[in-house]
Amino acid sequence: MAELNVARAPHIDGEIVVPGDKSISHRAVILAALSNGTCTIRGFLPSQDCQCTVEAMRALGISIEQPNETTLIIHGQRGHFRQPSGPIDCGNSGTLTRLLCGLLAAHPFECQLIGDSSLSSRPMNRVIEPLGKMGAVIEGSGPKGTAPLKIRGGKLQSISYELPVASAQVKSAILLAGLQTSGRTTVIEPIPARDHTERMLDYFLVKTIRTAVGSGCAISIYGDQVPESRDFTVPGDISSAAFWLVAAAAQEGSNLLIRDVGLNETRTGILSVLLRMGAHVREVVQDCENGEPRGEVRIDGTRLHGTVIAGAEIPNVIDEIPILAVAAALAQGKTLIRDAHELRVKETDRLAAIAANLTAMGVDVVEFQDGMEINGGAPLMSGRLKSYGDHRIAMAFAVAGLFADGETVIEDAECIHTSYPGFENHLNDFLFPNENRTTPVINPAGALERH
Ligand code: S3P
Repeated sequence: MAELNVARAPHIDGEIVVPGDKSISHRAVILAALSNGTCTIRGFLPSQDCQCTVEAMRALGISIEQPNETTLIIHGQRGHFRQPSGPIDCGNSGTLTRLLCGLLAAHPFECQLIGDSSLSSRPMNRVIEPLGKMGAVIEGSGPKGTAPLKIRGGKLQSISYELPVASAQVKSAILLAGLQTSGRTTVIEPIPARDHTERMLDYFLVKTIRTAVGSGCAISIYGDQVPESRDFTVPGDISSAAFWLVAAAAQEGSNLLIRDVGLNETRTGILSVLLRMGAHVREVVQDCENGEPRGEVRIDGTRLHGTVIAGAEIPNVIDEIPILAVAAALAQGKTLIRDAHELRVKETDRLAAIAANLTAMGVDVVEFQDGMEINGGAPLMSGRLKSYGDHRIAMAFAVAGLFADGETVIEDAECIHTSYPGFENHLNDFLFPNENRTTPVINPAGALERH
């Protein structure tokens, strides 16, 4: 899929189940590898990013069977890993790189982490610094500690560390190192970020303590614990569902049901933002079996209006800003996005990429260092748009194409496989609802109504 072609969709309705959550898939593989026995992971996201995590664990001596794309049987080795025979390729994944730094910090061998050109430009000092305080030696190749990284781990000392940026990846790296260190390691997060690591540690029966600190949280972990092997089922990824939520929310008369999706409160900020923009959203948590709330979301389309997205809400919608910017372009009036500097160091500079693509579609947008102002409501123009090699930019602007007359072409769209294998099938199901497909994720009843 070098290019993705998108036409105007008359209507978005039906039902959809999106692939497994990316953040949770990475963590499930790593915790299962650390555990004391065999864990079966179901609903695993078989995307390039998460597959790199599986290969990384195999390179470290963990035996993993994959009887089908979404099921893994992982034979945990009680925290023992062997030195890999060559560099570990983290592909495009910042999450894998930072989590591996935490994991490997406690192991007395040298290891090199490499990745693609996007990953090799992302700042790693944010993990190198706290892990260095614990005693690990991690060297980056560039001034901001960029990959390739050389890690020389060993016996660590516990620390108490306040995060200078709201980052679940940094928090998780320190907690993974702390798990393998004697004593109590504490991470203080002034602004809460996604808490999948903490929840999964609880689920694998690792003792942690969480206390409120102002509007944030302190998480302490006791070291020298071995996670108890458990099976785990990964819920659908709300960050993938976000594309269809906006596609339906912004079109009057659309209605969509997303089933079996993760509804962890540190990730559902997109639902609050869409509610503020006037969308009709109903979320129902159906269970919390593996420590992660999951359920369904129903959304009815309407004419959206602008809003403000800023402050402590940003970490909760950090991966949804590209698609929320598209929602803002479709909404009446002004939307202001602020405090989102972190978007400049994602898979690409997402603020610049969003502003460039919105401008190419004829949208009035003013870019700031930490966000943008979008004046929405004018018709979107179709044309050729760049993905900037970033999966979420590619998918967000494919959805924008559903609202433009004529054909929108997303260039270099293969990056979508980083997080959402099957995205183009789902898109086609919305574009051509009456065609008989092999993966009928869209409710046939919905398709018939439109016939
Ligand atoms: C992630 C955390 C976020 C997010 C990324 C996944 C994770 O990054 O943007 O897609 O799984 O921990 P930061 O921790 O850098 O904010």
